[in-house]
Amino acid sequence: MKIEGKSYKTIWFENNSVKIIDQTKLPHQFVIKDLKTVKDSINAIKTMEVRGAPLIGATAAYGLVLSIIESNDLSFLKKSSEELIASRPTAINLKWAVDRMMKKLNGINAKDILKIALDEAKAIKEEDEGFCKNIGINGLKIIEEIANTKKDTVNILTHCNAGWLATIDWGTATSPIYHAHQKGIKVHVWVDETRPRNQGANLTSYELNEEGISNTVITDNAGGILMQRGQVDMCIVGTDRTLSNGDVCNKIGTYLKALSAKDNNVPFYVALPSSTIDWNIKDHRKIPIEERNSEELSHVEGIDENNEIKKIRIYPRKSKSLNLAFDVTPAKLVTGLITEKGICEASEKGLKGLFK
Ligand code: MRU
Repeated sequence: MKIEGKSYKTIWFENNSVKIIDQTKLPHQFVIKDLKTVKDSINAIKTMEVRGAPLIGATAAYGLVLSIIESNDLSFLKKSSEELIASRPTAINLKWAVDRMMKKLNGINAKDILKIALDEAKAIKEEDEGFCKNIGINGLKIIEEIANTKKDTVNILTHCNAGWLATIDWGTATSPIYHAHQKGIKVHVWVDETRPRNQGANLTSYELNEEGISNTVITDNAGGILMQRGQVDMCIVGTDRTLSNGDVCNKIGTYLKALSAKDNNVPFYVALPSSTIDWNIKDHRKIPIEERNSEELSHVEGIDENNEIKKIRIYPRKSKSLNLAFDVTPAKLVTGLITEKGICEASEKGLKGLFK
């Protein structure tokens, strides 16, 4: 998608280094950063210079490429893979990508390993782009149906950033929105600010603005009243891990939005590529839920009138904090899963019907 009219992907390989858009600087500064070592990749994932389930998977895949460039040694590669997987535990795409790379590289000789690693990382990247495009084509049908019955702007609520910045291109939750906009359907997006890191306000609103899509940032608590007032036609969110029974783990606050949607008969859709499905864990309480630094809660960052980025504390130093980054929305609250293969019920039967 575009930034200031120029097309970008979120990650690419050039001159033996990996280029990323540093998302900790957005929306105030657009900075392309070089990752030169596997440590750089781990750090970029940990500090959320790159974030979003599919993008951290691709970054981890390229992290292994950098590990081979640094030291073409199997024990270093294994250590790198373990450190990459541990860098953010909730999003399954990270482990999925690392496992896929390691399986591909198993038994390959030192002479060929770099080329094979590069090809596989590129395949993961390009596959995600294709998945997200198809999610958009499939999700577009739902928006079209609403637009046909309503004959007016379709109002869509989204949480966090499951946009193109969280993937390689298109996004998951935003892909149907971008496709609808390109087809000339009038859409407006309610963007949950998504405390504590404000991925909605900082990233989703930014990327929708750049594509010329009407959007309004709202507090995380405003969705309920908007639904009661009939101002939300549908919700679409992304996910970091969806269990085979259809339970959806996503950014903290998604569950409360799904409860409001249920109470107000607003359809609640989750958009995901198949790389986000966890076929192994059967009980959502077993999903590792990331607990992040309390500073994300106690401080806010923004730009002052001199265009300087400032970080300030917003509550007493003495106060305790708990910063859980994700929650789980039970399948019964999910209207449907929008995948690259089609739309299905949030259930084992639904997912297995699409992914044999
Ligand atoms: O903590 P983040 O910013 O990585 O969380 C991102 C989300 O929760 C997204 O909704 C999710 O990764 C889906 S990305 C297409």
